[in-house]
Amino acid sequence: MQRDGKPGSLPGTPAHSRPDVSADTWAVTAGRRAEWTQNREGTGGIVNPPVWRASTILYPSIADMDAAGRAADDTLFYGRKGTPTAWALRDALNGLEPGSAGTLLFPSGVAALAVAILSAVGPGDHLLIPDSAYDPTTSFCFGFLKRMGVVAEAYDPLIGAGIAGLFRPETRLLILESPGSLTFEVQDVPAMAAAARAAGIATLLDNSWAASLLFKGIAAGCDMVMQAVTKYVGGHSDLLMGSVSAVPGHFEKLRATAAQLGQCVSADDAALALRGFRTLPLRMERSGRSALEIAHWLKGHRLVHRVLHPAFEDCPGHALWKRDFSGAAGLFGVVLDRGSRADAPAFFDGLSHFGMGFSWGGYESLAIPTSPERLRTVSRFEAPGMTLRLSIGLEDPADLIADLSAALDRLETLT
Ligand SMILES: Cc1ncc(COP(=O)(O)O)c(C=O)c1O
Repeated sequence: MQRDGKPGSLPGTPAHSRPDVSADTWAVTAGRRAEWTQNREGTGGIVNPPVWRASTILYPSIADMDAAGRAADDTLFYGRKGTPTAWALRDALNGLEPGSAGTLLFPSGVAALAVAILSAVGPGDHLLIPDSAYDPTTSFCFGFLKRMGVVAEAYDPLIGAGIAGLFRPETRLLILESPGSLTFEVQDVPAMAAAARAAGIATLLDNSWAASLLFKGIAAGCDMVMQAVTKYVGGHSDLLMGSVSAVPGHFEKLRATAAQLGQCVSADDAALALRGFRTLPLRMERSGRSALEIAHWLKGHRLVHRVLHPAFEDCPGHALWKRDFSGAAGLFGVVLDRGSRADAPAFFDGLSHFGMGFSWGGYESLAIPTSPERLRTVSRFEAPGMTLRLSIGLEDPADLIADLSAALDRLETLT
């Protein structure tokens, strides 16, 4: 806010900061606008936007109260509209998706997906969802939305521009997720988004793996790009949050739907996520590099059938990853050539550096057994043995390799 208490930018501060700087510099400078860091009258201000907790905002007059109701998004009005802590995070995330009209925050990644989908479809509409989508996204489309009269249809994630063949007159939304959950196929997002746009169909990309750092969804032609902030941006396994960035036209619909559904996040969580944001490129670079080293080691192991990692040539869509992504995240899958889900305790229970738990993208490494074949309906996933997913954190990769080596030895003795 300005000195007079009225919202707005201080002289010299752009109304909407944009990262005309590298990602590393944006991570450090984003969201630190003068009016959010109390940088007034040449004091220099504080480094981090503080935690502004609020439900009620007080007004000096009815005229001020009425004006606040009509004011811009980053204006104090009522707690659900946020305070400078959340606006700073929104601004920071928005800067990762050039071309976006704005970014909104949600209490989880699943909430972000649900609201984005609801902003685009209604009764009688048809939507398309990849067969490799995150399981709760699929459940929402085939469960909740079915009750609302929306028809969801799964498609082969590798269909590419051929997606146009599945468009119907009533198709309103194409959902994309690249790489796919658990199986890591890379989609031809630019070609699919172009086909949808030409047909007047909205697109929603789950960009959580790339964290909008390694792949730019809006620039690739998508209308809405979400990420589970819980993962790499949060980065410390202590918060849940989601975000959606959207192009003009879609942003307004998204904002209206989110407001009607009462979506908001706490200032404390926003501050935590903003802290994670500062080291996002650094952490992603390190876990991506360690993950590649570990994936290469696994590929050479006698018990490993396949590594499901976009940087490997045998990963479906590898050429698209090379063309479209600027790097790889630290999350990938492994297919063993023996063992089944029933043998999982032998492998997992004795792990000492890998934690066993859901989620990914934190500073600590995680491992879970997976069953992607059970989720497929229109494309097949076949594995001769046990499948697992690894989220590589910031530990020494040599320690993680030793942990995996011992786990594979235990499995070998058993099977
Ligand atoms: C690809 C993907 N999208 C969305 C989500 C949902 O995020 P959240 O756990 O914050 O609801 C997840 C969570 O694992 C995910 O893996």
